[in-house]
Amino acid sequence: MGLKKLTAALALSVSLFAAGAARATDIEVTHWWTSGGEAAAVAEFAKAVDASGDHWVDGAIAGSGDVARPIIISRILGGNPMGATQLNPGHDADELIKAGLMTDLTELATKEKWNDILRPKSQLASCTVDGKVYCVPVNLHSAQWMWTNRKAFTDNGMEPPKNFAELVADAPKLKEKGIQPLSLAQGWPVGLLIGDMIVAVAGVDNYVKVYKDRDLAMASGPEFGKVFEAIDAARKMVDQKQVTKQWNEAVGLVVNGKAAANIMGDWAGGEFQVAKMTPGKDYDCLPGLGVTPVLNTGGDVFYFPKNKDPKVTEAQLKMASTLITPAVQVAFNLKKGSLPMRADVDLGAANDCMKKGLEILDHSTAVFPNDVQMLDRDSINQINDLMTNFFSKPDMTTADAQAKFVEIIKAAPKM
Ligand code: GAL
Repeated sequence: MGLKKLTAALALSVSLFAAGAARATDIEVTHWWTSGGEAAAVAEFAKAVDASGDHWVDGAIAGSGDVARPIIISRILGGNPMGATQLNPGHDADELIKAGLMTDLTELATKEKWNDILRPKSQLASCTVDGKVYCVPVNLHSAQWMWTNRKAFTDNGMEPPKNFAELVADAPKLKEKGIQPLSLAQGWPVGLLIGDMIVAVAGVDNYVKVYKDRDLAMASGPEFGKVFEAIDAARKMVDQKQVTKQWNEAVGLVVNGKAAANIMGDWAGGEFQVAKMTPGKDYDCLPGLGVTPVLNTGGDVFYFPKNKDPKVTEAQLKMASTLITPAVQVAFNLKKGSLPMRADVDLGAANDCMKKGLEILDHSTAVFPNDVQMLDRDSINQINDLMTNFFSKPDMTTADAQAKFVEIIKAAPKM
């Protein structure tokens, strides 16, 4: 090729590159995925957004949702919006939507037929306000799991427990061996535990009757009395001196065998994966605490606060579409420990925990709403505080705790 042609070719490639680079729009994304498993998973989203031609500017906020949510919401209300943000499916963004601060995704959702491709339908329903779609559901997380370290039992001549009651029976021997039977993190993980105990002891229907229908007779009745007795048994297994600040630290105690079990959502699965542990060999994952396999529809969605720059709006819509493509759904959810939002994906690499979750989701009726899809965040936070007090104050009776729980349900605003 002559010098003249080579120069022209070079000039063309430089201008094409420059044009391409200019097209990449920065999109700041806030989320609270900072544990080992969460970070590995969110990196898959970042990689996909970058591969789509825009640039993911990571806005990770440490300290889980209770820290991140107020920061995210006040930034948007205060006129300093991020490009995209993780939140949970529920009512956390209702005020922002009503204030007209969130990008409307309805046209995209209709064009891409989200209502047909995403399941369960409850998650897109949680993103829909007055018929318009404002978020894209990206995964399904259930809170209803117990995680056990198999070696903590087998090294001490015990069979790994198949359910919560067997763990309670094993607790004295575990304590003798210097192993904490049940690890716990402070704050919302204690509230998560009560939700799991209600479902395991009183059943899904009674849980929904109280959280959704506000059935005070049920909340104050004998079935829930039994729930608080079971929570008291859990309280007696927890070493108050080892209550951790963050959920993943409590899971970490089970990963390293210092604790035998932890009650946590299936995002804990991501921590065992990062530790290269195998379910059924190194640890067990017990849906419904091993009592009845159940799944509640927790998880994550992405909202896109309105932005003055049309290039950012364009990048928002492209990101929403990218996060639910089959390949990205598989790459993210396999690392997150959650279930993909679509059934038309290849989950050949799914581990036994994900397979258990998929079996319940797609082949059972034991799927029910998450607490924040039935109760406002403030009431949830009050329950979390009540249960943190119950666990830290041994002289608080189960009757006191149940009575205070009933008061919170009674005062909760209708959704
Ligand atoms: C939940 C979220 C999960 C997980 C968990 C712990 O709200 O849905 O993705 O991150 O918090 O941080």
